Amino acid sequence: MNTSSSFAERLIRWQRQHGRHDLPWQVQNPYCVWLSEIMLQQTQVATVLDYYPRFLEKFPTVQTLAAALQDEVLSLWAGLGYYSRARNLHKAAQQVVGQFGGTFPSERKDLETLCGVGRSTAAAICAFAFNRRETILDGNVKRVLCRVFARDGNPQDKKFENSLWTLAESLLPSENADMPAYTQGLMDLGATVCKRTKPLCHQCPMADICEAKKQNRIAELPRKKTALEVQTLPLYWLIVRNQDGAILLEKRPAKGIWGGLYCVPCFETLNEAYAYTEKLGIASDGLEEQPALTHRLTHRLLMITPFQTPQRPSENLSDGLWVSPEHLADYGLPKPLSDYLNRPQSDLF
Ligand code: ADE
Repeated sequence: MNTSSSFAERLIRWQRQHGRHDLPWQVQNPYCVWLSEIMLQQTQVATVLDYYPRFLEKFPTVQTLAAALQDEVLSLWAGLGYYSRARNLHKAAQQVVGQFGGTFPSERKDLETLCGVGRSTAAAICAFAFNRRETILDGNVKRVLCRVFARDGNPQDKKFENSLWTLAESLLPSENADMPAYTQGLMDLGATVCKRTKPLCHQCPMADICEAKKQNRIAELPRKKTALEVQTLPLYWLIVRNQDGAILLEKRPAKGIWGGLYCVPCFETLNEAYAYTEKLGIASDGLEEQPALTHRLTHRLLMITPFQTPQRPSENLSDGLWVSPEHLADYGLPKPLSDYLNRPQSDLF
C-alpha cells in the first residue's frame, strides 16, 4: 500500500475488496437503515440478522410502525434487550410521521431530534441512506482511531471524546466519495480486523501507517475504561397458574427494568411477594422456592428467585392477565423469563 494514500482512500478500497457486502440493511432506504442501526446498538450482527427481517415483515414502513401498538413492537423486540430502544423506535416513527410528513429527513441535525438517535447513529443514516459526508464514531471506530493515530486518553473523558470526533471529521473522504463504503469500512475494520483482543494486523489496510503498531502499543490502546460498578439486585417472581393452566402476567411499568414488557408478578422483596400471594388467596407456605438464576444487565446483576405453587388463586381476586402457555410467545417477555418458562424441565407444556 502506498503510504501517501489517505486514510479514507485506503479504507474505501479495503471495504470494497474485503468488507461486508451481504448485510440485508445495506440499502438506500432510510427506514431500513435507521431500524438496523438501532438494533445494532449493543447487539451483535448475528443476532440482528435474526430479528431484522421479522421486524420488517411486520412493519414494512415507518407508517405501519407508527400506527402499531407499543405491545406489538415490544413483543417483536423481546430477547434483543435494552428495551428503551424499542420504545424510542416506536416514538421516533411517530415523530417521522407527525413532524416530517412520513419522510425521513436527510439532515443529521434533524435526525438527531428523533428519539433514540444520537450523533453517530444520525451520521450513519445520513451516510448510508443519503450518501452524506458525515462521520460516525461508535466504540469500534474509537478503537481504530486510538490505534492508528496512537491517541492515548481516558475514553470516559468528554474532552478526549470530542478530540476523537474532530479527528474522525478530519479523516472524511472528499465530496462525492462513496460514503456508504467509507462508513461500512470503519465499522468492518473495527469489527473484523482491528478487534479488541487478537487484532489481525497482518490483514489491516492501515498496518503501515498505524502508530500504535509502530510503537508496539496495540494491546494498551485504546485505554481501558474503569470497571463499571455492578450492583446485585434480588428479584422474586411468582409463577401462578389458574384452573385452566394459564399463567398470570402483568405489564411492567414504563420506566425501569424491562419497562413495558409483560412479566410474571415481580418483586424486590420477599415481603412484597408474600403480601401479593395472600391477596391472590394463596397461602405463602404454599410457595415453592426454585433455584435462583442470574441475569446481567449493563449496571446490575439480577439475582432472580422464582416461586411456583400448586395452589390456584381465587379467580375473582385477580385483575391480572391470564395467558395460556401456548400464547406466551405472543407477549414481549423478558429474555430470562421466557428462557425460564421454556427450560426443558419446565412443567408448563
Ligand atoms: N454496527 C452498527 N452498524 C452496523 C452496520 N451497518 N453494519 C454492521 N455492523 C454495524
